Amino acid sequence: KMYKEQYRPQFHFSPQEMWMNDPNGMVFFNDEYHLFYQYHPFGTTWGPMHWGHAVSKDMIHWEHLPIALYPDELGAIFSGSAVVDWNNTTGFFEENQPGLVAIYTSAGTYPDSDRPCQRQSLAYSKDNGRTWEKYEGNPVLSDVAITDYRDPKVFWHEETNKWVMVLATGQTITIYTSPNLLKWEFASEFGHHAGSHDGVWECPDLFKLPVNGDLGNEKWVMIVSIGDNGETKEGSRTQYFIGEFDGTTFVNENDDTTTIWLDYGRDNYAGVSWSDIQDGRRIYIGWMSNWRYANQVPTKEWRSAMTLPRELALVTTRDGIRVTQKPVEEVHSIRTETIELQEMSIESGKEVSLPLNNQLIELNIEFEKESSNHFGLIIKHSETEKTKISVDVLNDLLLVDRTLSGENDFSSSFPTVQEAPLELKNNRVKLQLFIDTSSIEVFANDGEVAVTSLIFPEGLNNEFVLISNGGTTNVSNLKIMELETIWK
Ligand code: FRU
Repeated sequence: KMYKEQYRPQFHFSPQEMWMNDPNGMVFFNDEYHLFYQYHPFGTTWGPMHWGHAVSKDMIHWEHLPIALYPDELGAIFSGSAVVDWNNTTGFFEENQPGLVAIYTSAGTYPDSDRPCQRQSLAYSKDNGRTWEKYEGNPVLSDVAITDYRDPKVFWHEETNKWVMVLATGQTITIYTSPNLLKWEFASEFGHHAGSHDGVWECPDLFKLPVNGDLGNEKWVMIVSIGDNGETKEGSRTQYFIGEFDGTTFVNENDDTTTIWLDYGRDNYAGVSWSDIQDGRRIYIGWMSNWRYANQVPTKEWRSAMTLPRELALVTTRDGIRVTQKPVEEVHSIRTETIELQEMSIESGKEVSLPLNNQLIELNIEFEKESSNHFGLIIKHSETEKTKISVDVLNDLLLVDRTLSGENDFSSSFPTVQEAPLELKNNRVKLQLFIDTSSIEVFANDGEVAVTSLIFPEGLNNEFVLISNGGTTNVSNLKIMELETIWK
């Protein structure tokens, strides 16, 4: 009966029970993808943090494992990363038997006060992450002057032969380096005036990717999540920067005033990438919620799910180099039926209605604007519940409207129309949609735009309707893929 509750995601990761937030410590080792996550085992709201744990062969089907890290005398276990210590730089491992090292934030308080005391600690595992030992020298990095001092993401920098840590330090990212993960040295600080400072900076990541697939032209991407300050309409969200990194300093190649969002939906936060994937892919997963209402979403036995794992790439767009995201190809393994439909024209004001025989759907569709100024589709979950995904041609916007999607009275910030800038290409827009029981992920133009959105419909998705306004829209490459549950 597990994973049959109302709103329970069927092809996204969610914990068996209780509260989850950020993905942590993602690392690939000995043919397994590890996913750890911020976990409160005693309640369905945020509380003393542990690291929950799951493993997968394909990042789609997951096996739950026991809690990996418990709070200790240094505090709760906040977000962080994990790496394979291939060369035993730590000395934790035996010759030729590399293991995993987790680098996380110990979140306690200073003695005799309740001022937060956030410091970085290590734990290691010699048995593929099944059991963990905390390093006796913890914490390995602290700074009494900085209150928000957390979420270490660590990687090995070949060119300088050093470990690099990016750490969220208030409203900047501080970079440290180390030969052995045990001793850390300040390298530089980034971001005082760059990008959005709408909230506290959290959960950074830093990695390089080829531009347009050209390995001779690589750029570095720095991802930074921004907390909810209670005042923006968006709540918590994720930005990124593009630039160069030489092992010590990140140089943003855009203007400080440029803010680039990773996702234009409300529900993709605190995401970072896997470490040590050997096939060259850079794969990202985010927490599919928003601090504005994460503790209030209407699920009972558990709270929160992750986004689909997404492969990141860099492409040149009219606005400059941008990150694209595509669900990993492994997600194709849950397709059951594929229904391909004929090309068609939707006339102005006419609605073309098509059945969906499954609640779990991937939909691929290409629109071509002939004379219309607004087109798209409406997913009807029931007589009264619908989610509208449309393109406003005059304003170059992709709109994902969840105001009528279902239950939404738990937060006044929830009912909303999410807007993303969208460039039509030869009057065309390609959409790829993933519809689960309580989420919709929209990828436009091969992942140039992503909109990740929770929805809480009571009904099943049983119909979708193509719409065109102000003129005709042509529809082609329409494929409806029925998906199967990953929890069997
Ligand atoms: C981001 C975050 C992190 C912190 C963790 C605590 O969502 O606030 O900065 O480590 O959650 O659970």
